[in-house]
Amino acid sequence: MKTIDNNKLKRLWHSTINKKDTWHNAFHLEMPFGLINDPNGLNYFQGEYHLFYQWNPFSCEHLHKHWGYVKTTDFINYSLPQLALAPIDEFDKNGCYSGSSYIKDNILHLIYTGNVKDDNDSRSSYQILAKQLPDGTFIKEKIIIAHQPENYTAHFRDPYFFLKNNHNYLILGAQRQNLTGCTLIYQQQSDDSWQLCGELKTSYNNLGYMWECPNLLTLNNTDILLFCPQGLESKGHQYNNLYQSGYIAGKLDDNVQNLRHGKFTELDNGFDFYAPQAFHDDERTILLGWVGMPEKETDYPTINNGWLYSLTMPRQLEYKNNHLYQYPIDELKKLRKKEISYTDSSNNFSCIIPATCEVHIELNTASIKTSVITLGFNKDALIISYDKAAQEICIDRSNMSLGAKGQRSFTVPSEDKLILDLFIDKSIMELYCQEGYAAATWTYYPQKGTSPIFQIASDQAADMLINIYELG
Ligand code: FRU
Repeated sequence: MKTIDNNKLKRLWHSTINKKDTWHNAFHLEMPFGLINDPNGLNYFQGEYHLFYQWNPFSCEHLHKHWGYVKTTDFINYSLPQLALAPIDEFDKNGCYSGSSYIKDNILHLIYTGNVKDDNDSRSSYQILAKQLPDGTFIKEKIIIAHQPENYTAHFRDPYFFLKNNHNYLILGAQRQNLTGCTLIYQQQSDDSWQLCGELKTSYNNLGYMWECPNLLTLNNTDILLFCPQGLESKGHQYNNLYQSGYIAGKLDDNVQNLRHGKFTELDNGFDFYAPQAFHDDERTILLGWVGMPEKETDYPTINNGWLYSLTMPRQLEYKNNHLYQYPIDELKKLRKKEISYTDSSNNFSCIIPATCEVHIELNTASIKTSVITLGFNKDALIISYDKAAQEICIDRSNMSLGAKGQRSFTVPSEDKLILDLFIDKSIMELYCQEGYAAATWTYYPQKGTSPIFQIASDQAADMLINIYELG
């Protein structure tokens, strides 16, 4: 049971923040030391966004999970982080695991999983309620669910609060006794206790061995279950990361027991994306994900500098044309400093770009077969290629000397025009294709002091517009 108080955290922060290494990102939320993972408890309340995340402030290992906490009004300026929850009680001694939040009586309430392992490494999971005090700190109130239901294992975690038909619900990630993944639903009763409704029935009875971090959202009259199945085998371009994050969309019945839905679709096509959480502000649904992957710590060279992982840019979600669109929220446009625009009609265009920037590309694809974007960093290159016949984009990290390598490919419908928005931070890129139809997030590790050279080369001359915004 290890923790530090918020004053010590502040001192640590100030002593570390100036020693930033060149891979520390400029506009992605991350901590200067320790390991962060899932976004937790996201909420918008009294004009501020409250953001929590899993944080081990002691080392780059998946241990001592606290809830870190920052506030923002614009997703550009953040408060100094605090520790909201520490794993110092009997019921959470091996980690204050992921969860969500809700507002009641104008007070922010958190619901999280207390992870406990006994001497034989056998696990217990408690679902716990905590509450914000007037001074901004949090107090753990009580255990609200003490045990998983019969026929499910102790892999029972990540409660997500949602409202449906005027009732409050929790959806939790779970594992059946036969070692298949699913979710369980609880409904809040008039005395505030939580009663099990049962398993949320879907047509996926055998999709992986555990479903982590479920979210239930209703967007544009469609009910959407986001979840992270573990244990899927890769299939062509699908499921190539160790664990997946995706969604199924359709209609929930009134009792919240059955979801009639379409096929499971991955949320992000990059190498480094997991455990997203979505929440609503006054007019939007916003999602943040973890830029990272469990059990792959050594793939990320920042581990040698004492810090690991980041959160994605906040993305606005929209459900239209039977598809979930994701796009960075408008506030991030305030990061734009300088704009340079080019129009070109050749088959080869190149320029130097700032180390942190946004590149908007509109490419007329009517007469081309292929187009290749190369981001050159001295001898290293990150390649994004487009194949019109297959309607596919491929991200290729094979020519980067540091970090994990490999390729990820995905489909983007693109008959006459391809629109790409590439956000380049110091060690993260996020690519949004066809105005949010597809997103891809990945880490990359350029050698110190290299300025990226941007090149786009197509098999035929093609009209294109390129806007480059320096971000910072
Ligand atoms: C997902 C996850 C959650 C768990 C948390 C622990 O990345 O494994 O299921 O609550 O991380 O940090």
